[in-house]
Formats: sequence, structure tokens, C-alpha cells
Amino acid sequence: MIDSHKSNRLPWATGNTPLMLAPMQGLTNRAMRALFIDWVRPDVVFTEFMRVGHASRKGLIRSDRKEASSPHGDVPMVAQLVGHSYEALVIAAQDAQEAGVEHLNLNLGCPYGRTTSGATGGALLQHIAVLEKMIPALRAAIHGTFSIKVRSGYSDPQQIFSLLPLFEQSGVDFLIIHPRTVVQQYQGLADHTITQKVVEQCSLPVIANGDIRTAAAGRRLLQETGAAGLMLGRGAINDPLLFERLRNPTAAEPTRAEQAMMLQRYMRDLLSRYSELFCGEVQVLNKLKKVLTFVEEPAFAKQVTQMKRTKTIEAFTALVEELA
Ligand SMILES: Cc1cc2nc3c(=O)[nH]c(=O)nc-3n(C[C@H](O)[C@H](O)[C@H](O)COP(=O)(O)O)c2cc1C
Repeated sequence: MIDSHKSNRLPWATGNTPLMLAPMQGLTNRAMRALFIDWVRPDVVFTEFMRVGHASRKGLIRSDRKEASSPHGDVPMVAQLVGHSYEALVIAAQDAQEAGVEHLNLNLGCPYGRTTSGATGGALLQHIAVLEKMIPALRAAIHGTFSIKVRSGYSDPQQIFSLLPLFEQSGVDFLIIHPRTVVQQYQGLADHTITQKVVEQCSLPVIANGDIRTAAAGRRLLQETGAAGLMLGRGAINDPLLFERLRNPTAAEPTRAEQAMMLQRYMRDLLSRYSELFCGEVQVLNKLKKVLTFVEEPAFAKQVTQMKRTKTIEAFTALVEELA
């Protein structure tokens, strides 16, 4: 353990069980993060992954730097990096910190990275020697917290247990585990018996991620695994109010009318924020449609399909106004 980092503050208060908004490429941009913060206030939000190329590219690209420096009030934001070269990742981490980022995360889960010499994301789980250099180097370069988001393994779901000593000894502050293998991508279900064993065997705080669709499922997961907190991805994009229901044990699952109101408010709000962030009708509509691919409520399947087919914001808005 590297002593100088023992005093790091976690991005949540001691004793709290943080509910985090997951990093989701194409979705959790600064407008979406702000919507969540204004509406349901996750305890921690993550950027989409910031892809870090070869060291010669010198730090973050401009759009990522903008994401890194975007304001989030007092809600901690974690910037996530994905890359292969530890030198480049260190430069990017320094760059992000100069842009105001306090909390950094390394992506060891993305199943779509390259898998050979330039392995990134989850593919790095096949390159342990690279990780043995990368993780301590990032730890040394990061002044605030350094966390890792990891799958249960590349192809073996037990691989995670062989990685825990590296994470602990390098002074990583907390782990987020999505217990599917990289090879599995998004098939099957997250196996949270693995999460439970990781919590048992690991001295670091462990955040459970994967397939949390209802408040009851989230609460059960906390109880069964002893995880320090939860990270919500697709379930939250489907319904941001999942955060509220998780916080309030007496809240019932929403009725159809409540869901209609939620979806209407969600789309109105997102349309307004996306119109400021993105340029032009086509791009705004495409970004909204991407969100709708995660809105899975069967009661609105017809309306969602219609919205996904619209060609103008006017037509989209008309359908939104008919929802509730
Ligand atoms: C469209 C999409 C984009 C994603 N982008 C990222 C990303 O940028 N970084 C990351 O660590 N995970 C990413 N993930 C994985 C999620 O953060 C999360 O680990 C996964 O979806 C499982 O959680 P869930 O069942 O709550 O969605 C992405 C997932 C999806 C579906």
C-alpha cells in the first residue's frame, strides 16, 4: 500500500451507501449528468470513458477536457479513462486533474476494445504485465481518488480474485465490479455471488454494478453482497427515478400514469438540454433516440417506437406531449 494516498477522501461521505450513475458512452454526457443531478441527485456521477491514445497525443482531446471541467455543483464527478499505454494514461490523468478533476477511474471492463497488442478496457485483463505497470503508475500520478471499474474476468469469472492483491497493494481507493466476463459482453445475467465474494476477500470498498432494474433488486443486492454502494446504468437511463425509489424504502414501483409523467418530463428536459449541447436537429434527435433504446417499459413500447422514427424535433415533441 502506498502510504501517501491513505488519506484520500472517497467521493462519498463515510457511513453513506452511495448510489452512482454509471459511465455510459453515448449517454452520460454532461447534459445527461446534469439532468440526473437536478432531478434525482446521484451521490456520484461518472463521465463516459475518455479514450486515451498513444503518449505522443499529449493528454485529453478537447471535447474530453470540456467534459472533465464541466460543473457538477457539489456532486462528485469521476472521470473515466480507457487506454493501453500507461505513459499516455498518466499524461491524460495529469491533464484531467489540471482541468479540475479530483476523482479518476480506470476502465477495465469495456468489451469492445482492441484485444491484441493495443488492448484496452476489458481486453487488458489478458495483459496482466501491462496492468502491473499501469495501475501503480496511475496511482502515483493521481492526487485524489483512483478507482477501477472491472469485469469479473476476461473469460474466467474467477479471474477477479487473482487481481485483488494488485488493486489493494497499489493503493486503489475503491472498486466497481460488473460481474460478467468480458467475453460475455452483456449476455446472461450479472453473477453477484462473485460480487459477494469480492466484498468478502477485498479490503477496498466495493460498488456493485449490473442488472439493477428495480429498487427491490438493488436493496437485495446490497443486503446479499455487503457492497459499499450501487452503480446504476441501463436501469437508470430507463427510469431516472430508480434513484429515488432506492433511497425511499416505502416507495412503490410506479403506476402506468406515473411512468408516463416520468417519461414526458424526462424527454422534455433532455430535449432542452441536448438542444444546447449538440448541434443541429439531426444530431439532437439521434442522441435522444439513443436514450430511447434504453427505455424498455412495455406500456410505452408503441410510443417509444414512434418517437424513434421521427424526423423532426417538432414531431418528436408532439409525441412527447401526448404521453401523459
Ligand atoms: C451503451 C453503453 C455504454 C457504456 N459505456 C461505458 C463506459 O463508457 N465506461 C464503462 O466503464 N462502462 C460502460 N458501460 C457499462 C456500464 O457502465 C455498466 O457497467 C453496464 O451497463 C452494467 O450495468 P447496468 O446493468 O446497470 O447497465 C456501458 C454500457 C452501455 C450499455
